[in-house]
Amino acid sequence: MSESYTLPLPQSGLPITHGRIADFADDPLVCMRRLWARHGEVCALQEGNQRIFFVFGPEYNRQVLSDASRFHSRFFAAYGPRKSAQRRVTSGLLSMNGEEHRRHRRMVQGPLQKKAIVAYHENVAAVSEDAFSQWQIGETRDVAADMTNYMLRLTCAILFGLDHPELAYKVGELTERWVGLNHEVGAGAFTGSVQASAAYDELLDSAKELEVAVKELLAVRRDSGLGTDILSLLIRAHDEEGGISDEHLIGHITLLFGAAHLTSAHTLSWTLFLLAQHPEVMQELHDELNTVLGGRTPKPEDLDRFEVLERVIKESMRVLPASAYVQRIAAEPLELGPFQLQQGSVVVFSQFMSHHLPEQFEQPERFHPDRWKTISPSPYAYLPFGAGPRMCIGAALGMMQLKISLPMLLQRFKLNVVAGAEINARAMSTMLYPTSAMPMRVQAHDGEFTNTPVTGSIHTLVDLPPACQPQRDLQRRVA
Ligand code: HEM
Repeated sequence: MSESYTLPLPQSGLPITHGRIADFADDPLVCMRRLWARHGEVCALQEGNQRIFFVFGPEYNRQVLSDASRFHSRFFAAYGPRKSAQRRVTSGLLSMNGEEHRRHRRMVQGPLQKKAIVAYHENVAAVSEDAFSQWQIGETRDVAADMTNYMLRLTCAILFGLDHPELAYKVGELTERWVGLNHEVGAGAFTGSVQASAAYDELLDSAKELEVAVKELLAVRRDSGLGTDILSLLIRAHDEEGGISDEHLIGHITLLFGAAHLTSAHTLSWTLFLLAQHPEVMQELHDELNTVLGGRTPKPEDLDRFEVLERVIKESMRVLPASAYVQRIAAEPLELGPFQLQQGSVVVFSQFMSHHLPEQFEQPERFHPDRWKTISPSPYAYLPFGAGPRMCIGAALGMMQLKISLPMLLQRFKLNVVAGAEINARAMSTMLYPTSAMPMRVQAHDGEFTNTPVTGSIHTLVDLPPACQPQRDLQRRVA
């Protein structure tokens, strides 16, 4: 990180830090924490004559997120050349604004509304039963990889009506590589002026491969006959006279698949990790699952009866939000706090930063689900699914999947993080990823829950109990 973060305020008196914009791409959370510590809730990072603006608190979140006509959305990904696969795979809802966005959002939203998603309940339970019944007591599993594969399969089944794990894993792998390359091209994607570079060429190639796999999904869906799933709905909308274009069909499918499986997989991994490291919370949840379910599969009416689980999920998404920051673009010249923004200026808001503000959440770095018994933050202070007219369209489905999957797994097994494991986290292309394996021992329930020492960058994001702190002798043994 550049030394310039410690320079005094510039002469203008404006809350600006002069530094490298690439520093933001290198480590978004470190960069934003420094900016907030120095300037507070609104500020800018400036390199040469280029600025990125940041807002961190509920008041500025509201200003930016509630006004979708002046603060436009732009996909985190780099724009590709016209008629390129990169342009097509990024043409989903996140790249749309105004009337076009409203029209497409209405179309995609229908099958994701609260009353519609009850129909997916049985399917979620069936996929989770099948996936978790393959785990064996006594084995050690990389839970982060498992949750990604599980969510790939589940997303393919729920959104696309296809139980086709191999194809789902293939699209998933290509998506992950493509997301990583977008982040590598990083600063260019932020400014919209991507330089010709090896990474950019690789990105364009990876978009082509991703598009081929998405087309394979489309072909399989057509071959098996259209159903009531979202993919069938989009294909019908595409095939009808004056319907959605080829480009938008590819864009919607790619975005829906990526947005649904990555965020949910990371939320599941972080929640399992936090539960394993907080035995008293895990015990309370275990007791609730015994009382409400007694070992059976959750029914739709059970989901509203989970009080501890509800608090656990909310708190996990507060401390380690799968969507850590998002960007907007000023659609016209406008005022933001002390700044006059030019049209096209980039504004970043951050769920991670908002959820860690000490004036909003007492001891913000602690995982403390019971805080939800007494707090009720505004939708702009706590926003794991975003807020305003562009809030996540999959929020209800995402919550339903979490409330079925976690009980299905946790009733079956006790999970312990392997002592001395290195657990690393990194914000990349807006999401908070577990970037190393998350090894856990799969055990039978014995009525006892204990936590373990771990190393890694996770300690910079959340205050874990003393028993989870790194222990030197253990580190040596693991090395
Ligand atoms: C735990 C799971 C999830 C999290 C944390 C999450 C988070 C978010 C966030 C923060 C946004 C707002 C981005 C912005 O303000 O620009 C968003 C948008 C979106 N999400 Fe999700 N999401 C989740 C699950 C899902 C699922 C299951 C789907 C699909 C079924 C989905 C599809 C979308 C789409 C299409 C958008 C774009 C909406 C628009 O621009 O109008 N998400 N998500």
